[in-house]
Amino acid sequence: MKDFLAISDYSSEEIQDLLDLAVKLKKEYFKGGNKPIFKGKVLGMIFQKPSLRTRVSFDMAMRHCGGDALYLSPNEIGLGKRESIADVARVMSGYVQALMARVFDHEHVLELARWADVPVVNGLSDYNHPCQGMADALTIIEKFGAESKGLNVAYVGDGNNVAVSLMHVSAQLGWNFTIASPESYDITPKAVEIGRKIAEKTKSKLTFLRDPHEAVRNAHVIYTDTWTSMGQEEETAKREKVFPPYQVNAQLVSEADKDVIVMHCLPAHRNHELTDEVADGPHSVIFQQAHNRLHAQKAILARLFGVG
Ligand code: CP
Ligand code: NVA
Repeated sequence: MKDFLAISDYSSEEIQDLLDLAVKLKKEYFKGGNKPIFKGKVLGMIFQKPSLRTRVSFDMAMRHCGGDALYLSPNEIGLGKRESIADVARVMSGYVQALMARVFDHEHVLELARWADVPVVNGLSDYNHPCQGMADALTIIEKFGAESKGLNVAYVGDGNNVAVSLMHVSAQLGWNFTIASPESYDITPKAVEIGRKIAEKTKSKLTFLRDPHEAVRNAHVIYTDTWTSMGQEEETAKREKVFPPYQVNAQLVSEADKDVIVMHCLPAHRNHELTDEVADGPHSVIFQQAHNRLHAQKAILARLFGVG
């Protein structure tokens, strides 16, 4: 495992192994702290977009395990602008032991990985958000138990980066994944094709709908994300008109399984895609989910470093 760029790059067994390790590292952390398995290692974190969770959870993951992290803001290195991505990758490989990058264009994180001698982690691109997907899976397993095959995961809203990683991790773990999105806001055909290949092996069922009410019927998980992702700001007004029928509110939640959990990767645009009532209500696991970024990423880093 050289890089962590997409959930679909791994086998179901490898994804399960990462989740098992995350559970172990989380337990260890709360029992008195992690062992210094990242001692002498620094993670370089390249951001082309803002971040709270990804930035802080990666930094803390490194520190908790005896390592360190270096934050490089969007203004600092000008990835692909001030300097080519290939040169940035080769220079940074001499300074740090791993790289994490949040980019606009997925091709840019692939390019970074192609040229870097050190492992590269995708901290969100326009295509996917694999670290989020791992934290989401950890949260779902914590709620429903390790024997979770056959769960129904329903995503309501934009078929974006977060939806892609959720679909792929659901397929990997044998969960049924249903998405309801408005016309023109579907998950890309390429991501669907990859998802279908994984789902065939695990017997997971992937369903693509327009109607959010149909999507949440019998759902154990309802997931939503912003209607306008970073980089799409000029489409905000248009999207605000299209997406209101896809709001996750108390009525929609009442149409799912009675023990449904409600998830959101955050940041949430409250009372747009998710109402306050639901975000702060009894079904919501949004903060547990945010906190699980820390534990899932410790496992990813440990496997990339070949330690722990
Ligand atoms: N969920 C997530 O990636 O949050 P940030 O954009 O704050 O990192
Ligand atoms: N879909 C969102 C996720 C943010 C964590 C975005 O790309 O902005």
